[in-house]
Amino acid sequence: MPAEQTPVENLTEEQAAAELAYLAAEIARNDELYHGHDAPQISDADYDGLKRRNDAIEKRFPQLIRADSPSIRVGAAPLPTFAAITHSRPMLSLDNTFSDDDVRDFVSSVYRFLGQLPDGSIAFTAEPKIDGLSMSIRYENGRLVNAATRGDGTTGENVTENIKTIKEIPNRLPAGVPDVVEVRGEVYMTKSDFLALNEKMAAEGKQTYVNPRNTAAGSLRQLDAKVTASRNLKFFAYAWGEMSEMPADTQMGMVEKFREWGFPVNPLMKRLHAVEDIIAHYKDIGLKRPDLDYEIDGVVYKVDRLDLQARLGFRSRSPRWATAHKFPAEQAFTHVERIDIQVGRTGALTPVARLTPVTVGGVVVTNATLHNEDYIKGLGNSGEPIREPDHDIRVGDTVIVQRAGDVIPQVLDVVMEKRPPEAVPYEFPKKCPVCDSHAVRERNEKTGKLDSVTRCTGGFVCRAQATEHLKHFVSRNAFDIEGLGSKQIDFFFEAEDDALKIRTAPDIFTLKRRQEGSTLTKLENIEGFGKVSVKKLFDAIDERREIALHRFIYALGIRHVGETTAKLLARAYGTYEAFAKAMDDATEFSGDAWDDLNNIEGIGEVMARAIVEFFKEPRNVEVITRLREEVTPQAAEQPVASNSPIAGKTVVFTGSLEKFTRDEAKARAESLGAKVAGSVSKKTDYVVAGPGAGSKLDKARELGVQVMDEDEWLAFIA
Ligand code: IVH
Repeated sequence: MPAEQTPVENLTEEQAAAELAYLAAEIARNDELYHGHDAPQISDADYDGLKRRNDAIEKRFPQLIRADSPSIRVGAAPLPTFAAITHSRPMLSLDNTFSDDDVRDFVSSVYRFLGQLPDGSIAFTAEPKIDGLSMSIRYENGRLVNAATRGDGTTGENVTENIKTIKEIPNRLPAGVPDVVEVRGEVYMTKSDFLALNEKMAAEGKQTYVNPRNTAAGSLRQLDAKVTASRNLKFFAYAWGEMSEMPADTQMGMVEKFREWGFPVNPLMKRLHAVEDIIAHYKDIGLKRPDLDYEIDGVVYKVDRLDLQARLGFRSRSPRWATAHKFPAEQAFTHVERIDIQVGRTGALTPVARLTPVTVGGVVVTNATLHNEDYIKGLGNSGEPIREPDHDIRVGDTVIVQRAGDVIPQVLDVVMEKRPPEAVPYEFPKKCPVCDSHAVRERNEKTGKLDSVTRCTGGFVCRAQATEHLKHFVSRNAFDIEGLGSKQIDFFFEAEDDALKIRTAPDIFTLKRRQEGSTLTKLENIEGFGKVSVKKLFDAIDERREIALHRFIYALGIRHVGETTAKLLARAYGTYEAFAKAMDDATEFSGDAWDDLNNIEGIGEVMARAIVEFFKEPRNVEVITRLREEVTPQAAEQPVASNSPIAGKTVVFTGSLEKFTRDEAKARAESLGAKVAGSVSKKTDYVVAGPGAGSKLDKARELGVQVMDEDEWLAFIA
């Protein structure tokens, strides 16, 4: 890499030009690798690092900005296009488990949820977690009709023709199978085929692949199915989507059926009861791992009985009845070259270690998060030691880095024998590196302890906070405005001209009008934009003038309010007006509106406070008022099960329940569209009271809320 290490301020013009050329090519190459989805060779953080380096050099040498500069290129190379298929049942992911204790917790949580003593009576299956691509293959009347990748879990890509070339996947099923069968499992490439293919590619002077998983993905996403056919992909069946009829009533039974129907199933799958046996099987599979001809990254446990799976149900993205026990993360040694501070949307100063590039588990790592000041010192979030006392992290240190799955690489420990004598303790900045405002650690009101996060106090003055806020606003799960990425936000934010500048979210929606009134600074005349992309951008912005309420709330960037919380709020309040009014009424942190907010299941006091505080800030109110002139949040969809008598109703459970655990009763009510609250108020529709019910029952009677016992409740929702 040319001159990578030279600080930008020391670059000569000649060096800068050479590096910009290199960066343009390198970023374009990675764009293509990424968007082709088959062979990303660097992490997102490293990719961002390249872009930042490019930006920094361009800032210092604006005369050197290239026509093909990555900072002005909008969009990326065209992708191979496959039609979308909406999955009949979502394809979910699995929760991860890392230690034996996590596994014990998982097993006990299953018993607890079902209200049973952990007596070993529940059977679990344990099977390897295949590191490939998940696939849903649909058969109607025994014929393969389509096959789709997982995609975002809701819709995937139609890769039917490619899947039909995989010899291990039957095109027809034997007579007697249900009319509709959706078999799900993992498409993978064997390690030996991967190595052979790479040797061949190298011999032909072609780009080699990174690992079997990406190769399998690349082999599948071929417009020419003949290429897929030549790659000898394989398959393991382990799950299902829609089934017109269930051929078995256990996980093991289903997999056995798949085997009978001609699908390969994994031979290491076992059915076990005792936690210790489950853990032993995990260890056994771990020992076999190097000898298997396919990559695995853990062991998946599932509750065997399907009726119990149904009772356990799902959390937002993953089933309660399954977990993936991952193999330990990969580690490597490297050096800390520098410690940089990044300033986030909420002002948090996050130290990042810039490392000498090192390969960890097949991926090159150059950055690792150091979390916060205490982490660098070797202290955890509650001030407890997490490393030996003198093992603080210093520039120049040799460190052990760890990468686990998609998690950001971590610096685990320092190799003290290798500490250079001149290394000094890292001094955490007292000022924001971006806006120079004071950076402080707040004191937790309840515990009196210092918060581990250091925050810039600059608020809206801080350029980093403001731009990060905007980037969050336009991000995929918020307003999702295509053509308005990180680069463009920086450009519009820096602009001084009234017809161009975007400083707060509402400015995005007034941009077109301001452009229409301007002759001097037409966006289409600015390098990198062009007529077509400007029109596309304005269309993309206009498309978001109506937006789902939860996206709107999430986009506001309220501290602690992620997507899940935004959805809870949208569902609880229904309309933006109702939500805003309630927040207005709750400013004193007391009264009905405050209680209602706290009663939403899943919203704790810290969050509730952050939300109310957000709406107390006049500047936020002003921005939202302007935003509301441009954008209309749609009323939240009312809960799905509209034919259920409790859809949209608020229920409180009190006293002891006998037929269900509290968790199961709650999950069941929610799946039927009810809100479950923790305390009784005027808004409560039903109180389900078991033996021992006390003050909540009294309050219900006092307010005239309908009260039922457990049996009446069950009959009511049946
Ligand atoms: S079960 C509802 N079993 O892991 C959960 N998944 O992290 C259905 N995977 O997207 C998945 N091996 O691609 C299951 N034996 C196995 C698996 C497995 C690999 C993948 C699958 C899924 C991801 C979840």
